[in-house]
Amino acid sequence: MIQLNAMDNINQVREQLQQQFAELEDKKAILKSPELKKLFEGIRDIPSEKRSEYGQAVNQLKQDLNSWVEEFEKSQGDQQVQKLDPTAPWSVNVNANQRPELLPSTQGSIHPLNTEMAKICDIYQRMGFVVEDSREIDDDYHMFTSLNFPADHPARDDYDTFMTDEGLIAPAHTSTMQNRVLKKYADNLQKGEAIAVVIPDRVFRNEDLDATHEHTFYQIEGVYVGKGVNVGNLIATIQAYMSDYFGQELDTKLQPFYFPFTEPSFEFAVQRPDVLKKDDSEEQKWLELGGCGMIHPNVLREAGIDPEVYTGFAWGFGIERMVMLKNAIEDIRHFESANLKFLRQFS
Ligand code: DAH
Repeated sequence: MIQLNAMDNINQVREQLQQQFAELEDKKAILKSPELKKLFEGIRDIPSEKRSEYGQAVNQLKQDLNSWVEEFEKSQGDQQVQKLDPTAPWSVNVNANQRPELLPSTQGSIHPLNTEMAKICDIYQRMGFVVEDSREIDDDYHMFTSLNFPADHPARDDYDTFMTDEGLIAPAHTSTMQNRVLKKYADNLQKGEAIAVVIPDRVFRNEDLDATHEHTFYQIEGVYVGKGVNVGNLIATIQAYMSDYFGQELDTKLQPFYFPFTEPSFEFAVQRPDVLKKDDSEEQKWLELGGCGMIHPNVLREAGIDPEVYTGFAWGFGIERMVMLKNAIEDIRHFESANLKFLRQFS
């Protein structure tokens, strides 16, 4: 009769659990119920000839509990608060019938920055450069150390950006990729070919916002290394790109500057078209596009390239600023404004 009592007991527990389940807030907790655990423990007290039948019944109860939970979760579906999905085009915390309808895709268009970035990359690819993505989270080694920034050097302050508690960094410049691409393409040098890579991506900076400064913006980095490469090659390369992108020869200006990762270093500025000038001052005459220079021997060495044999140049330009110059856009903040009047002019 042990068996009958035991089987009755399982049914009793099932009823108890059913009641508990209805009242539980955290439905999953039912799977950990002490009553179920006791039934499993009871297996060893069942006579061996009845043990399998008993064991099956307890297992069946466990499976049933699982399906109660599953069914409950399914019925909750959209109403359940899920983890935030930053790519979702609506709040995930509303249920299906509260969601707005999506606009038909025929009403959308590619963002002007993406269109322009594709054009820019196309020019560099025709010039023989490979395109690589940067990353939106990086570490101190790639952002600073590999680029010859000594620890605690004040030059680090120019790249003030967001940092996680673990010390990861939202990169303030695409130069954060230099060490990686130099290593990745170092074989080219052995084959007698140059390293020629451009890296367009988003960067982040602690900036005072104004018409030409955003905290989040796009840059394109360029890296070229080979034998006998000099500043003349740097200027020629940038100018070839500029006249292709702008479709005309613009006045450009290189002025000495300081970056830890280049020597010599320059700031690169382009003549502002009249429509983008606030006044006739010398300051308004030029728009700084970014920096460039000959890659510092320490940066090459850090990537395993012998600076006695190879030299190279690098540059990093702001993409929004180039697009502003080309299209006479007076304020960088338009790009992120989601202002359809602005965006539709590019579709
Ligand atoms: N990373 C620099 C910045 O964002 C720009 C730059 C300067 C990039 C010189 C380079 C370079 O590759 O060689 O301010």
